[in-house]
Amino acid sequence: MRKKIVAGNWKMNLNFEEGQKLTSEIVNMLKDENDKDVTVVLNPPFVHLYPVKKLIGSTPNLFLGAQNCSDKTSGAYTGEVSATILASFGASYVILGHSERREYFKESNEMLTAKTKQALENGLTPIFCCGEPLEIREAGTQEEYVKNQLTESLFGFSADEISKIVIAYEPIWAIGTGKTASSDQAQEMHAALRAHFASKYGAGIADGLSILYGGSCNPGNAKDIFSKADVDGGLIGGASLKSRDFVDIIKSF
Ligand code: PGA
Repeated sequence: MRKKIVAGNWKMNLNFEEGQKLTSEIVNMLKDENDKDVTVVLNPPFVHLYPVKKLIGSTPNLFLGAQNCSDKTSGAYTGEVSATILASFGASYVILGHSERREYFKESNEMLTAKTKQALENGLTPIFCCGEPLEIREAGTQEEYVKNQLTESLFGFSADEISKIVIAYEPIWAIGTGKTASSDQAQEMHAALRAHFASKYGAGIADGLSILYGGSCNPGNAKDIFSKADVDGGLIGGASLKSRDFVDIIKSF
């Protein structure tokens, strides 16, 4: 059985008090409302990690994640945070290769290999993002484009390492735009990506991979999207900033 996962990506939002309030609300709601054993991950900005971890405490199935990590191990890299530091603060997951990082911070497929390696070596589960821009979708070459992102960044890893990674398919044209991929579009891509991993690592490994959908997921569309055979959950941006919406998405399985 593949893990069902809903991860909230706060991006660069919420001050200290707002982050504490949101986390406390989610912790309280999940005590009664996560009856389907969904793995839930909160990915706040770095400075929230420690206080959010304290609030999470021993809440079942609720984990801490970061939004990025350095591709380096340690040293003179001002402003960077290593996977080692994240692990020492109790993070279990790290989002890597989000389209905003690829675009605004020029993260290449090659750099993302190094970040993934850092995460795995420190026992963090990478939530590895991929997805095509609008012009690629309009040209109809989205599958080749996304498969290529994954091949270039991840296909040097062993089967054992790949089985520790979570994939998030996020069509860039659907992120923060209110325009979601249809559940059929999501299923089509997720199935293609799973087949791509099967071609390299075998069906056993591919079947065990959790592949999340991200891009304007909300309580109104999550049920339909999560009902698809190859969709194992969601990476949620805007809707993860409201406790009720986020928990309703978690309950959409
Ligand atoms: P969104 O963001 O849900 O606000 O579209 C998703 C993401 O970027 O992870």
